[in-house]
Amino acid sequence: MTAPTLPASDPVALQTAAHILREGGLVGMPTETVYGLAGNAADAETVAKLYAAKGRPRFNPLIAHVTGLEMAQTLATFSPLAARLAQEFWPGPLTLVLPKRPDAPVCDLANAGLDTIAIRAPRHEAARALLKSFGGPLVAPSANKSGGVSPTTAAHVLEGLGDQIDLVLDGGACPVGLESAVVAVEGDRATLLRPGGLDRASIEAITGPLGSPGQTNTPSSPGMLKSHYAPGASIRLNAMTAREGELLLGFGAMDCDLNLSPAGDLAEAATRLFAALRELDARGPTCIAIAPIPQTMLGEAINDRLQRAAAPRD
Ligand code: TXA
Ligand code: MG
Repeated sequence: MTAPTLPASDPVALQTAAHILREGGLVGMPTETVYGLAGNAADAETVAKLYAAKGRPRFNPLIAHVTGLEMAQTLATFSPLAARLAQEFWPGPLTLVLPKRPDAPVCDLANAGLDTIAIRAPRHEAARALLKSFGGPLVAPSANKSGGVSPTTAAHVLEGLGDQIDLVLDGGACPVGLESAVVAVEGDRATLLRPGGLDRASIEAITGPLGSPGQTNTPSSPGMLKSHYAPGASIRLNAMTAREGELLLGFGAMDCDLNLSPAGDLAEAATRLFAALRELDARGPTCIAIAPIPQTMLGEAINDRLQRAAAPRD
């Protein structure tokens, strides 16, 4: 059976969603980045069900979503730098990985038993209203099967997880279109674990140069599996023309089957990226060829997702 969809702008729908969450259910929740699959972070049974619904390995920890810094401080210890980042960018597409408080109301399974926890305050009005009404942290991985293309509409959520969840709140298309940037903060040192919907330059204006995972003494991200965001078709990057059996996803003024942004606007390309991959994939090509995307601003996160989509699959 497919889950019902209710408009996220309807206060009654939000109450229904909060009730479902309190009862241990799973709700497709719009955020400004991508749709999340929300569940009660405190309840291990719910969180186990959530990992199972996504087919997600349990060593890959989840993000706890909060209303803001006040709720976040019940989950983690904030260094002055971490607090500054939260003040500057929350609510918004930035996730902070911080030392977890022993008394945090989040079950160990949610953060895969680590001593750190990932936290984000989403900006989308519906997510904010739902968190407020629920009154505690909600875990919410992207609402897709593990390894697949992230959902940016309610219909995408239903396509992948419709028979495993209790409700989808339809908040329209996600305005950012790429997941949050994930930054680990240890004292006054910040490491970019995942480029995302907040660009590096904005973060570095506060942190100075960001470390990268894999450098000595920097944290790693257990969830950054190489193959991810993969559509059914294979992916060929840096293409200017389509070969036999391919469809071409363009960027900037060019001849192609679908264009992420004819004007060459990276924010527009980010918003459209996941929906475009799904749309071309549905036409059944053997391969989706993708034009080069500049590595500046949101291009870093777009290219990160494309490289994972193109990575060998097992
Ligand atoms: O924009 C987003 O972040 C979306 C929306 C729904 O909020 N959520 C999202 O969640 O992308 P998910 O589960 O697909 O990605 C969470 C990422 C994974 O790469 C995971 O490994 C990393 O955050 N992560 C979570 N907890 C961590 C921790 N304690 N240490 C290091 N990385 C962590
Ligand atoms: Mg994901």
